[in-house]
Amino acid sequence: MVTFEAVSKVFADGTEAVKELDLEVGEGEFVVLIGPSGCGKTTSLKMINRLEESTSGRIRVNGRDIRSVDPVQLRRGIGYVIQEIALWPHMSVAENIGIVPRLLGWHSGRIDARVDELLALAGLDPAKFRHRLPDQLSGGQKQRIGVLRALAADPPVVLMDEPFGALDPITRDVLQSELKELNKSLRKTIVFVTHDMDEALKLADRVVLMRQGKIEQMGSPEEIQNAPANDFVRSFIGEDRLASISPESSLETLLHDPFLRVAPGEDPRDVLERMEDDGLETAQVVDARGNWVGMLYLPVLKRTLRNGGTLREAVRRNRKLIFEEAVIRDAAEMLADMDLSIPVVNRENVFLGVVTSGSLARLAIGRLSRSRKEAGA
Ligand SMILES: Nc1ncnc2c1ncn2[C@@H]1O[C@H](COP(=O)(O)OP(=O)(O)OP(=O)(O)O)[C@@H](O)[C@H]1O
Ligand SMILES: [Mg+2]
Repeated sequence: MVTFEAVSKVFADGTEAVKELDLEVGEGEFVVLIGPSGCGKTTSLKMINRLEESTSGRIRVNGRDIRSVDPVQLRRGIGYVIQEIALWPHMSVAENIGIVPRLLGWHSGRIDARVDELLALAGLDPAKFRHRLPDQLSGGQKQRIGVLRALAADPPVVLMDEPFGALDPITRDVLQSELKELNKSLRKTIVFVTHDMDEALKLADRVVLMRQGKIEQMGSPEEIQNAPANDFVRSFIGEDRLASISPESSLETLLHDPFLRVAPGEDPRDVLERMEDDGLETAQVVDARGNWVGMLYLPVLKRTLRNGGTLREAVRRNRKLIFEEAVIRDAAEMLADMDLSIPVVNRENVFLGVVTSGSLARLAIGRLSRSRKEAGA
C-alpha cells in the first residue's frame, strides 16, 4: 500500500535525515516508526504525503509513484494526524471533522451523517459535541476529533505523528485502546510515529526501529522484544520499557517460542530423538488449531516409551500459567522451584509460548544495566 524504495532526504543545509530507506507497508497494516529524536521519523512520514519531497528514491502509495500525483489530491486520500493537533478554533467540531469531505464535494446530508457516525464511534455523543468549539474540549477530546477528522473521508492510508504524545498517561492509554479497537473494523493502512516503546508494542503489527535515518530492525512486537538485532535495539527497548516492568507485570515480555513444539500425532520415538539430539528437557505439544495439549518431559517420555505407551500418554498438563491471570512473580517462583520451561496459555487454552529462566535472566540483565546507567556508573 505504501512502499519506500531507497528513499533519501537531504535538507538544504546538508542534513541527511533519511538514508536509502526501504519499507513496504501492506494494506491494512499498522506500522509504527520509532527511534530517538532526530532519527528521521517525521521526515519519513511527511514524504508520504509530500509535505516533504524526497531527494532520491521512489515512494508509491497504492501502486502509484507519488511524484506523479498532484500533492493536494494526494493528501485528500491520506489522513494525517499530528501531536499539536490543529483544529480550526473558529469552526465547530462538526465543521472540523467535515473539512476534507467538504473539499471533496460531498453534499451536506452525507457529511452530517458521517460526522455523527464518527463521533459515535469515538464514544462522543453527537448531539452534545457536534456544535462545540475546540476551546470547549479537553485535550483528549481534541485529540479524538483530530483522529476523526483524519478518518472523515475514509482515506485508505492514515499517517499519525505522535498523535497522543501530549496527553497524560491515562488518557493516552485510553486513546490507544480506542484506536486499536476502531481499526479492527476500519482496517486502515496506518503509519504511526512515536518515541514510546510501550505505545509501539501495544499498537503495531510491525515495529520499525530507526536510527540516524536508517532502519536498525523491523519486526512484530514479539520479534523485536525476543530477538533484538543489536545493542542499540536492546538498549532502546530496555530504556523505555524495562522501567515500567515490575514483578506484578504481565508475562508478555518474557514469552518466547518453545525450543521444541510438536504435534499430537507425531511419532514419540522421533520426538525423543530430537529432544536428545538437542539436549532438551521439555517440549510443548500443540494441536493444529493452536490449542495446548500438554508438555513432554524427557524422563517421562522415555519411561512411557519403554512401557510401550503413546505420545498422548506421556503428556503432562500440571505445569502451566494462564496469561490473563499470571504475573512475572508467578513465573519466577515456578522457575525457582523447578528450572524447566513454563508453558503459557490463554483462558481459551490457546498456546502462547513459554517462559524460561533464560527470559527472566535477560529481563534482569536489562534492568541491572539500566539502574547502573541511572546511577551514573
Ligand atoms: N527543514 C529542515 N531543515 C534541515 N534539517 C531538518 C529539517 N527538518 C528536519 N531536519 C533534520 O532532519 C533530521 C530528522 O528530523 P525528523 O524531524 O524527521 O526527526 P524525528 O525522528 O521525527 O525526531 P523527533 O522524535 O524529535 O520528532 C534531524 O536531524 C532534523 O534536525
Ligand atoms: Mg518527529
